[in-house]
Amino acid sequence: MNILVTGGAGFIGAFLTDRLLKEGHSVVIVDNLNTIGGIPYINPKAKFLNQDICDESLYSELNNYKLDAIYHLAAQSGGEPSYDNPKYDLLTNSLGTYLLAKFAKENNIPRFIYTSTVAIYGSNAEGDTKEDTIAAPDSIYGVSKLSGEYFIKQLLKGSKTSYSMFRVFNSYGPGEDLNYLKKGMVSIYASFIWRNEPIHVKGSLDRYRDFTYIEDTVDVLYLSLENSNTYNQIYNLSSGIKTIIRDLLSTMVQVSNQDKDYPIKEGYGTLGDSFGFHANIDKLRKDLNWEPKVQIKEGLEKYFQWIDSLPLTNDLKGLHPLDNKK
Ligand SMILES: NC(=O)c1ccc[n+]([C@@H]2O[C@H](COP(=O)([O-])OP(=O)(O)OC[C@H]3O[C@@H](n4cnc5c(N)ncnc54)[C@H](O)[C@@H]3O)[C@@H](O)[C@H]2O)c1
Repeated sequence: MNILVTGGAGFIGAFLTDRLLKEGHSVVIVDNLNTIGGIPYINPKAKFLNQDICDESLYSELNNYKLDAIYHLAAQSGGEPSYDNPKYDLLTNSLGTYLLAKFAKENNIPRFIYTSTVAIYGSNAEGDTKEDTIAAPDSIYGVSKLSGEYFIKQLLKGSKTSYSMFRVFNSYGPGEDLNYLKKGMVSIYASFIWRNEPIHVKGSLDRYRDFTYIEDTVDVLYLSLENSNTYNQIYNLSSGIKTIIRDLLSTMVQVSNQDKDYPIKEGYGTLGDSFGFHANIDKLRKDLNWEPKVQIKEGLEKYFQWIDSLPLTNDLKGLHPLDNKK
């Protein structure tokens, strides 16, 4: 298939692109390299368009590629940074998603897969969160991503494009940018260990999250491509395993071979942060016949193997884990 991956240079997008190429597909990446989650990585086997999804001239160019599917990952991808420049969130996450969905509809592109976020639930995600839990985003980011869901539903309902939307719950793994301290709990805490500094936790250690290893996240996104059970459906994409931050930190300290009493400083929480996120993934399990494969300890071991191989530097460009596997 000819597949467009927006945000294909970002953390999840780079691994998804790699998987799609390995499965024999052709990939076009659209990315403006405003990456905050990952070390920007452009797979040399993909066609790369360094463009903004809000730039309408992009869409006439995309007509040249006879696309069979779109994975739409491009986004301002963090809760805390959404307060730095809300306009960027609203443009990319809302308008950009609207333009892409409109393009898919007008060109009868068969598949449209969107990475939404747990943040659309806000504090309603503290329990056993099912997909029909009422959306109540606590952050600008959550609102903008939810508007993306609505645009996709509204535009693609009854069209020749089948959509699937995945509300991603904290994905982590090698390739995250350890120098960026405003997104990705695991990468932020790992960054302190990497620098041999006390771990600074913004918010309570009693908070909890589901953490999903990057390979599991990508597996779900890939498997949904041709699985008609997932057409026009919304899913939680998560390990479904609730982890308390205190326990996460103690496993991180353990697998990185640090002293048990490695210093941890608890500080004030950040704007728009939520106390707990935990997903019910029964629908995903059933429709995709899928189980998460990587448990948190194993995922963190793999993560720290990569971190241990990195020089201590403020610029990790060129040190993406996929760089070594060309
Ligand atoms: N990483 C997670 O745990 C997580 C959790 C929930 C949801 N998500 C969603 O998954 C997707 C990918 O997240 P990620 O962690 O890989 O983030 P990321 O920041 O690493 O990747 C996003 C990519 O989108 C690109 N981009 C941003 N604005 C753009 C624009 N206007 N035009 C073109 N490209 C643009 C960036 O340059 C970047 O490469 C996002 O949609 C995010 O909302 C991620």
